[in-house]
Amino acid sequence: MFSYEREFIRAQTDSDGFWLDQAKQLDWFHAPTVAMQPDRLGIERWFSDGVMNTCWLALDYHCEQGRGERTALIYDSPLTATKQRFTYLQLRDQVALVAGMLASLGVKKGDRVVIYMPMVPEAVMAMLACARLGAIHSVVFGGFAPNELAIRIEDAKPKVVLTASCGLEVNKVIGYKPLVDRAILESRYKPAKVVVLQRKEKPCDIHPQRDIDWHQAIAKALPHACVPVLATDPLYILYTSGTTGKPKGVVRDNGGHAVALKYSMTAVYNQPQDGVFWAASDVGWVVGHSYIVYGPLIHGCTTLLYEGKPVKTPDPGAFWRVCAEHQVTILFSAPTAFRAIKKEDPQGHYIQPYDLSALNSIFMAGERLDPATYEWVSSMTNKRVVDHWWQTETGWAIASNPLGIEELPVKPGSATQPMPGFNVEILNEQGVAVTSHVQGYVALKRPLPPGCLPTIWGNHERFEAGYLQQFPGYYVSGDGGYRDEQGYLFIMGRMDDVINVAGHRLSTGEMEAILGEHNAVAECAVVGVHDELKGQLPLGLVVLKDSMALDDAQLEQELISRVRDTIGPLACFKRAIVVKRLPKTRSGKILRRSIRQIADGEEYAIPSTIDDPTSLDELAMQLTHTQSK
Ligand code: COA
Ligand code: AMP
Repeated sequence: MFSYEREFIRAQTDSDGFWLDQAKQLDWFHAPTVAMQPDRLGIERWFSDGVMNTCWLALDYHCEQGRGERTALIYDSPLTATKQRFTYLQLRDQVALVAGMLASLGVKKGDRVVIYMPMVPEAVMAMLACARLGAIHSVVFGGFAPNELAIRIEDAKPKVVLTASCGLEVNKVIGYKPLVDRAILESRYKPAKVVVLQRKEKPCDIHPQRDIDWHQAIAKALPHACVPVLATDPLYILYTSGTTGKPKGVVRDNGGHAVALKYSMTAVYNQPQDGVFWAASDVGWVVGHSYIVYGPLIHGCTTLLYEGKPVKTPDPGAFWRVCAEHQVTILFSAPTAFRAIKKEDPQGHYIQPYDLSALNSIFMAGERLDPATYEWVSSMTNKRVVDHWWQTETGWAIASNPLGIEELPVKPGSATQPMPGFNVEILNEQGVAVTSHVQGYVALKRPLPPGCLPTIWGNHERFEAGYLQQFPGYYVSGDGGYRDEQGYLFIMGRMDDVINVAGHRLSTGEMEAILGEHNAVAECAVVGVHDELKGQLPLGLVVLKDSMALDDAQLEQELISRVRDTIGPLACFKRAIVVKRLPKTRSGKILRRSIRQIADGEEYAIPSTIDDPTSLDELAMQLTHTQSK
């Protein structure tokens, strides 16, 4: 039997033994004696008698082991022309001070802290400082508008918000502090304090009673030690889009998360401890949590924090420059980033000047790695390119080529095989497993392995209803796909109203709610249509109220601004088309799938439940007419 198969079977048949063995890789204050035990609600909880601290594992432990002089963090910011390195000792000391600052503001174990910061070392320090105190961080991506931040502040109820005066994008400086001020104004819950990191690119005003200057507070802070927590205590909440307008606060615990990430650093990535791991993402996403901050540091290697883009900072050679300059061993980003590079440098001229000999493999996730991008990146770099599939909810790869266990043959378009611990099945509408090559719901047979979410913050019913109730005994991923005769997994896209724009997960339901609030709109639908660069882009179709005679172009602009102001620029909502009617089923359900097929120019089937079959052809004609204008 080959190594992957052996390890996979052991994780299935001796799950407790397997994961307790993995837990031994970590330095616990009290090592767990129990592996998985369901709680009173029947949810799997891992290592419930283990006592530990995630910041200890990420920093102090390595210092104790004599590895303090190794580089923990490299900060490379083409946007500010800055490069900085922090050893494990330096990072630990800085984090201990940030923790001391938070403690002086009254933050203790179990309290929430919202972090709305750009890609600066202080953002990483802020997350680790919360972990050090046993406080629960909730990082909000900087591309979200104040309304989204307000929703998260109201839900998480943080004692303190940590922010910076500004974030940087290509050729623009975005004031973050005014966005935070507006969010707090909109939120019914008011955090006690806001700590502001002043950046010289755009300093901001400080609210005298509420705001605190980061540097001044750190100058007065005393270092704080690691606070022991239970493995099952929450480490963070990370909000992600669901099918309704309200984002879901995915809860991550401390112990299972640390064990899973440590395991993944070798099993998935085969990352050497003396190498440099670069997840070119953002700390606001799960990829940033797991593989900019916690995974590499728990593993004891160097992590790279990049404040820039794949292109235009300054050119499409940016990724290759960073890899060569910092001897990156594993590069991880979203396919959209490589499509952006390919678009600007199809012949790979910008790769030539750089020595990529340290680079072992390039990993991609966030969306399906389309075979064309796979072929381009493989042939241009001559590197191993690995597609792996995961979600905010799982925190680490559900399926991957398990490089550290056994390198499996590649099938372009497939995320390869389930990682040990994940039992993936493809189910039909009735919850029955289908045969190979038949598409269905991609579901995970419970128990879920360590690292996966145990609940949704403040709304356990939503966790049960959204993931566990559809098929009893399974977690439903929301993705559709199939397995081939060798068990290779092909993830083909979402089965629900979630779309994926440039590797960012967005809810079309939320956009529809925003469009629906416009007083000219009678009803609307938002679908994700194919886009060469970003994978998908939202397209809004609106039906006007009878009495409304409005200029279509003006309405479109108003709707675009509304979505941008309410969700944020990352939604990339740039098209809203007025249509006569929306195709529906006889029970009144909008046929979003058919609409998407029409908008993508695909052949569309006429569902048997359709109310009026001519509505599809009518829409197709209208969209063709609009596009040709
Ligand atoms: N703060 C504020 N605004 C932000 C932001 C941030 N952190 N990140 C993005 N934005 C803004 C951008 O400036 C842009 O605004 P605009 O409409 O005024 O131009 C908008 O949000 C859309 O951004 P983006 O989707 O990133 O488009 P882009 O054209 O700037 O860049 C890519 C396209 C493909 C280069 C970029 O999306 C990318 O690098 N993606 C990688 C994906 C990724 O990291 N995914 C995470 C999972 S691995
Ligand atoms: P997020 O929670 O933001 O990481 O988004 C998770 C979703 O992105 C998944 O449910 C998939 O729809 C999609 N996704 C992530 N990685 C992949 C992949 N490798 N292949 C296909 N889809 C992916």
